[in-house]
Formats: sequence, structure tokens, C-alpha cells
Amino acid sequence: MAQSDYVQQQIHWMVKRAIEHAEAGSTDSTEEIYRLPVDSYSAQSWEEEMNAIFRRLPLMLALSAELREPGSYKAIKVLDVPVLIVRGEDLRVRAFINACTHRGRAVTQTHDEVGQAKGFTCPYHAWRFGTSGELQSVADPRKFGEIDRNLLGLKELSCEERAGFIWVCITRGVSFDIEHYMGGMLEELAGLEADKWFVHGRSQLESANWKITHDGYLESYHIPFLHRQTLHEFWKRESLSSVSLYDHYGPLPCGPHQRMAGNAWGNDPKLMLKMKDIPSADWGDKYFHAVRTLFPHISISADRHGGLVSLMLPIAPDRCITHQIHVNPRDPSQDTPEQLQAMKERIALYAKIVRDEDYSTSFSIQEGLQSGANTELLFGRNEGGAQNFHRSVAHYVQAYRASQSKG
Ligand code: FES
Repeated sequence: MAQSDYVQQQIHWMVKRAIEHAEAGSTDSTEEIYRLPVDSYSAQSWEEEMNAIFRRLPLMLALSAELREPGSYKAIKVLDVPVLIVRGEDLRVRAFINACTHRGRAVTQTHDEVGQAKGFTCPYHAWRFGTSGELQSVADPRKFGEIDRNLLGLKELSCEERAGFIWVCITRGVSFDIEHYMGGMLEELAGLEADKWFVHGRSQLESANWKITHDGYLESYHIPFLHRQTLHEFWKRESLSSVSLYDHYGPLPCGPHQRMAGNAWGNDPKLMLKMKDIPSADWGDKYFHAVRTLFPHISISADRHGGLVSLMLPIAPDRCITHQIHVNPRDPSQDTPEQLQAMKERIALYAKIVRDEDYSTSFSIQEGLQSGANTELLFGRNEGGAQNFHRSVAHYVQAYRASQSKG
């Protein structure tokens, strides 16, 4: 299967840069170390970040692969907002606040489920809503009293689907321009061919503060140490290098969306140089791996052959829930028992690595921050992805403060 010209050109650009770094013993690096005050992890900062970022920006909350057919839906809670995302009979994806317009119960059984429905019957008094959110019927309408059903549909949220990904703003009445917000990242995402993926499995994991959680997805510096016996061990057999390439996309000078590439094959720069022995026409995604992050809460460690998408949703100043979604272009209903077993093992393995290595570290960092030992955290010149992330957080918090002070 041929890769698009864009993907091929990006791979060439990344591999050439990585080889140059491997020869020079360097990596992509920023001008200086970035220092972040510890109090930016306080409960007060968290509240401000939720208002400035999670309640205002478009959040990627579902994959098209989760909503393949008309009537397929996903219920997910973001902060205190229950969200229902549905593909209508017209194939359009819409998002609603998952609260019945009678007295507010969720119209799905829970706030965390995916499924297939012709409509939604509220479990409390059986009001029924269509897949486009319209109120279709009311139980015992003559006894209930007169109402205008046209005014009592589910409350809609802004929602856009592009390149196999679905964005929603959880604040009613706030719209967004997804092309402006994502910038060149939309072309990057198109190269993943995510509209052809199927969901093969899920896990949910708990971690500490959302920024501590996200930091671990934005640098490869820790891989040979924290993941010495797992990821580092798996990847170094295939090749390559401690070189990391950081690119960013979107409306800010620092992104806020990013691509981090080149780290996935281990820690020996000499192995990166082996790419020179492979004809450049053959430099495909088989040889080079990239992780994309979509601000503020998504990591995509996947390509057109599938992989792992992680949604990190903050639930408290010191807690975050990650929804891991394993995707693959293969239809799992056609899988052999061996393929199903292999996928089951992969899902369990990645949940274990992230829980036992990354997220147990996040809890330790949370305790370290609260101990008072340090006044600031350091992000090195080789940790450009994390630097861009924190600059992006600061940008949106400042913009929010400015908008609040204007009144
Ligand atoms: S709360 Fe939904 S029907 Fe009453």
C-alpha cells in the first residue's frame, strides 16, 4: 500500500535530520532549559487551566473508528460535563450534553460507554430522543401537560470530524475553527489514515496531575531508564537512536500540537546511521516512528498500520484518567483466534507498562512536588516537546486571564 507524497516527504525529512544528528552526536534542542514554578501544579492553577483550556478549546474526544455506523455513539464525561457523541442517520457526527431535558438524567445508562442505538430512551421517565438529539416522544404526554417538543431536544455542543478524529467543545455556545486550531497537524493526521482504523480494545488507567501525565508522552529522554526492561528492550533490537525530532503545528509559535519522532528504536545513535544503508526510496514508516500529540490531552502512538491513542482527561488537581484505545486497520471480526489473543496480550502489556512505569512515576512526582523540596521543575534543551507543551499551557492561561480582566 503506497504512502501519500506528503508522508513520504515527511519521512525523508525526518530521517535525514536524524542521520545528521546521529553523525554529530546531537539531537533537536532548544535554546535554553525551561523552568516551571512548582506552584503551577497547585489546585488554583488547575482550576484556571480547566477554564482556560479544557472548557474553551476543541477537545479530541472520539475516533471515527468508534462511531463507524449511523446510530453508533460514545458517552464520555469531561470534568463535570457528560458528553454524548452520536453519528446520525445522515452520517453526520453531533455532540450533546448527555442530560435529559426533562430532569437531567443521562440518556445513556452510564457516562462512560460506547454502543449502537436507534435513539435514546431516558431511563428515568422514558422520554425518547433521536440520534440527531431531537425529542421524539414523551411518556404519557396528555397527563404530563403541554410542552413544545421542538425546544426540548438535547443541548448540542460544537463538534467537528476530520481525518478520522472528532473534536468537541464541552462549553455550550462556544464554537471553533478546527482548521485554524489544528493548522498543518490536519495533514499529519490524514497521513495516519485513521478513517480506516477499527477499535481492537481499551483500557483505563489512573495517574497524577494532567500535566505530569502528559509530560511523559512528550520526551524520549526517559525511555532508556524508566523503560529499561520494557520499551527500550523491545525497540533497541530493531535499531536506532536517542535522537529526537520535535516539530509543532497550529496557531501558536510553540504549536500547540506536536510530532516527536526518531526515538522509538532504542538508544544507540550508531544504529540510526544504518538508515544510510537502506535506499532512501525505501525509507517508509516501517523504519521511522512518530508520536503526535494533540493539545491539550491526546497522544497518538500510531500510524496507518495502527497503534495506540491515549486520551488524558483531568478529574482533579492531582488525578487524571487515561483512556487507551488500541486501533488497527484490520477488522477484528475477521481476526483468527491467534490474532485476537495476540491483540489481547498487547493491550494488557501496554496497560501494564504505562501503569507500572509511567503512571507510578507520575504519583511519585506529585508527592515530590507537594513535599516542598523544589521551587521549580526543569525541562532540558533535549526536552523540546515538553517545553512547547508548557509554553502552550501558559499561552492559553494568559489569554484567559486577559479575557477575564476585560470583563
Ligand atoms: S429525567 Fe429523563 S425522562 Fe425524566
